[in-house]
Amino acid sequence: MRMYDLIEKKKQGQELSREELEYIVNGFTNGQIPDYQMSAFLMAVYFQDMTMEETVNLTMAMANSGDTLNLDAIPGIKVDKHSTGGVGDKTSLIIGPMLASLGVPVAKMSGRGLGHTGGTIDKLESFSGFSTVLSEEAFMEQVRDIHFALVGQTANLAPADKKIYALRDVTATVNHKSLIASSIMSKKIAAGADVIVLDVKTGSGAFMETVEEAKELARIMVSIGTMVGRETVAVISDMNEPLGHNVGNALEVEEAIGVLQGKGEKRLLELSLTLASYMLVGAKKATSIQEARSMLEETISSGAALAKMAEFVERQGGDAEQVYHPERLPRAQYEETVMVEKDGWLSSCCNKEVGIASLILGGGRETKESDIDLSVGIVLHKQLADKVVAGESLATIYGNDKEKIKLAAQRLAMAYEISQKPIEKLPLIKEIITKEDL
Ligand code: URA
Repeated sequence: MRMYDLIEKKKQGQELSREELEYIVNGFTNGQIPDYQMSAFLMAVYFQDMTMEETVNLTMAMANSGDTLNLDAIPGIKVDKHSTGGVGDKTSLIIGPMLASLGVPVAKMSGRGLGHTGGTIDKLESFSGFSTVLSEEAFMEQVRDIHFALVGQTANLAPADKKIYALRDVTATVNHKSLIASSIMSKKIAAGADVIVLDVKTGSGAFMETVEEAKELARIMVSIGTMVGRETVAVISDMNEPLGHNVGNALEVEEAIGVLQGKGEKRLLELSLTLASYMLVGAKKATSIQEARSMLEETISSGAALAKMAEFVERQGGDAEQVYHPERLPRAQYEETVMVEKDGWLSSCCNKEVGIASLILGGGRETKESDIDLSVGIVLHKQLADKVVAGESLATIYGNDKEKIKLAAQRLAMAYEISQKPIEKLPLIKEIITKEDL
C-alpha cells in the first residue's frame, strides 16, 4: 500500500477499506506517514466525507492504536459519559457520585481544559491534595470498592487520535462531523465502558452551533457505538449560555456540591438527572427513565450522593471536609460586580466570551503548558430570557489581579445583548438519540 494512492482514492470520493484505514492510522502514529501526507488525507476526508463503515473503521483503528482498558475485573455494567464541551459544564461532578451511590460502577477518564472550556480534572484539583493520577490497578480497585474513580486520560490511550487531532487543529480540519465523532468515540471505546452516554452541546460556543448539526453528529456517534457493541445514547443539550451559574474551577465544584445538597440551579440539575437516568437504565439498575429519575432524586434528598462525593474525594487523597464546607475551597482575593446596562430582557449570550472572560482571569489555559488559577471565575446572576433592570447585578467576577478583572468585566458586559421585548426561554434538552432512532 502507498499513502499517495490512498490520498488519491479519497480525493476521488471512493470508499477506503478497513485495512487501508488501519494502514493510514498506524503508519501516521508510528511516524512512517509524514504530517504533509496525513494533512492532505484529512483535507480529502473533509471534502469527500466518509461512509458510516469507514467512520467505524477509522474509529476502531484509532481506539486500538494504544492501550485499551479492560474493565471486566469490575463487576456490573460499566457506564461512562462524555460532553462535547461547554462553558460551566460540571455535570460529571454530579453524575459520578449519584450513580456510584446507587452501586453503578463509574470508571471515568477525563481531560484538562484548554481554551474557553474547562476540564473535570482541573476542577477536581480544587480539593486540596486531590490526585488524578492512579495506577490502573488502583483505579480498578477503587471502582470495585466505592464504584467511582476519575483519572486523567493516560498518554497512551488512543495515541493516534492525539496525533491526528493536533494536526487537524492546524490544518482547519477539526470541524468535520465524521472526524469529530471518530475522535470522541475512539477514546470512549478504548476507555472500556459498556454504556456510553453522550452530551452533545449545541449553540454559541459549542462545536455544533445548530440543532440539526448536533443531531447529525449525535447520530454518527450513536451509530459507531452501536456497531461496535456499546450501548450508546446521545442527549442534545442547549449551550447558548453557560450551564448553571458558576464558571471557573473551584466555583464550579462549589456549584456541583450545591446540587448534591439539593440546592442546585434548575437547568444544571435537569441535565445531570437526564444524563444519569440514561446511564442508570443502561446499567440495568432501573427499568424506565422515570424510575431512574426518582432513584437519582432520592440520592440527593437522602444525602447519599453527597456522602459518596466525600468518600470519592478522600479516596483520591483530597480533603473531604471541603465537600461539607465548600467555603474552604480556593477563593480569589478580589470580587467585582458587573452591572446590567439597561432595562429589558436578556436576549443572547456569547457563551464563548464568558469562557474567555474566565480564561483572562487565569481560570483556563491558553496553551497546554499554562498554569491555571483554581480560585478565579464568574458567578452569573441572570440567565437568558430574564427580565433585567439597569444597575442590577449581572454577574460577580472573582479574581486575583485587578487589571485582569477589569478586562474580564469588559468582555462579560459585551457577551450579553438586551432586547426591549420579552424572549422565549429555549428548552434545555433538544432531543435524545438512541439506537432505535437510527
Ligand atoms: N473533542 C474531541 O475529542 N475530538 C474532536 O475532534 C472534537 C472534540
